[in-house]
Amino acid sequence: MNHVTNVRGATTNLGRQVAPGPRGIPLLGNVPQVRQKGSLVSFYSQAHREYGDVVHVRMGPIDQYLIAQPDHVRHVLVTNRQNYWKGVAMERVKLLLGNGLFTSEGEFWQRQRRLMQPPFTPRGVTQFGEPMVGLIQRTLDRWEAPARANAVLDIGQEMMTLTMGVIAETMLSIDITHDDVAGNAAEAGRAFAYMLEFISRQSATAFSLPLWIPTPANRRFNAASALIQDFLGGVVRERRERHRRAGPQQHDLLDTLLNARDDQTGQAMDDRQVYDEVITIFFAGHETTAQTLTWLWYLLAKHPDAERRLHDEVDRVLGGRAPTLADLPNLPYARMAVEEAMRLYPPAWIFVRESYNDDEIGGYHIPAKSMIVLSPYLTHRHPDHWERPEIFQPERFAPEQVAKRHHYAYFPFGSGPRTCIGNNFALQEAHLAVAMIAQRYRLRLQTDQEIQPKMMGTLRPAAPVLMRLERRP
Ligand code: HEM
Repeated sequence: MNHVTNVRGATTNLGRQVAPGPRGIPLLGNVPQVRQKGSLVSFYSQAHREYGDVVHVRMGPIDQYLIAQPDHVRHVLVTNRQNYWKGVAMERVKLLLGNGLFTSEGEFWQRQRRLMQPPFTPRGVTQFGEPMVGLIQRTLDRWEAPARANAVLDIGQEMMTLTMGVIAETMLSIDITHDDVAGNAAEAGRAFAYMLEFISRQSATAFSLPLWIPTPANRRFNAASALIQDFLGGVVRERRERHRRAGPQQHDLLDTLLNARDDQTGQAMDDRQVYDEVITIFFAGHETTAQTLTWLWYLLAKHPDAERRLHDEVDRVLGGRAPTLADLPNLPYARMAVEEAMRLYPPAWIFVRESYNDDEIGGYHIPAKSMIVLSPYLTHRHPDHWERPEIFQPERFAPEQVAKRHHYAYFPFGSGPRTCIGNNFALQEAHLAVAMIAQRYRLRLQTDQEIQPKMMGTLRPAAPVLMRLERRP
């Protein structure tokens, strides 16, 4: 990269320091350098290595400040959060998720968060323990035949089917393996993957044509969006009708949304709002967990010592029986392995905020209306906070190690009031899945190739993770 550094220590006319960063070209800023590096992950990683903990980057017309120090993360997400919102960047995400919990702001967001919180508390998610165990069990049974045939499985695909199954059942009481809906759910999954990719591509290019212009990409995006609306909208309409006929029911997350009433006004959500929350939870609630599990199987296969510790733990604690939620505290290594996979490959590898007013971070001036790029990926590998950060080592998450570390050195679920509402759900699901799968199978990589991460909205493996299943005694 042909970098020309901004002069470190340069000052603004207000006497404040300007953050260093790679010099860009007129109009496009640093966009060509991102293209040249091949991905945003490598561009940001190199910018952090070269320019330090606060880097000024320009993506087209947008001034970005990449931050990586835990103190700065706390500043933006917690201590000075009044100065930050999710920003105009959310307009693009709204094309995907509507005005749901992920994208909304202010009092509206606060009300929705209050309404939706109860089933997601540590206690609330225990109601999903049984369906989670049931679905994992069915996956294990379905794998018997490929295991006997020594067949190769695309583990990313398998994990996606599992986590989509879990969210479909716990939220909508839909069995996506059932013939009636399997095709629709799979199609909706593919449509969503395309939409996510489209939006990531748009974010990286900084310029895009409005969706009403019928380019082939826009047409495909609009068709994908219609397909998802058909599938999830149909489920919501049907359920609302059932509530009208039979009165409130209480079986799943969708019922919770339909029954929720604002404690001040007594108002329920209208159909549009319920739909936006359903699509938000459906998609935010499975892709990320699937990526975590996929990376974890890849890492375990590459680290036989860690894999052995995991196998010893599940064998000792569970013997041959299926776990219940009561077993999870006795399976700490399985949980630490999940946390370590999310350290190295955080599914939400970056997310952004926008400043309302001028601020100062790490001694550098942050002008109003700047975009702050927070990167769990960079902070989780920050050499000041992690020893040998590239190495997979679940023991880092032993309580005494965690206690020694900066609290904000690890934030795969974000932090502050906008922290992931599904964190307890995801951790419970991943913990159960790792324990149950490791109990029955050893997953071996088909080849020992190194798989690089690729940014596709979430951080995915750039190549399919192909594995064989070995039945454990
Ligand atoms: C490993 C799994 C997951 C990861 C790594 C993850 C990551 C994140 C992150 C980083 C945020 C905050 C983004 C920001 O502050 O801008 C977030 C928000 C959110 N996540 Fe997750 N998530 C996961 C699983 C889930 C699950 C299982 C659900 C639902 C069942 C979910 C639903 C949401 C929602 C609705 C928000 C927006 C919350 C708000 O703003 O109030 N996520 N997630």
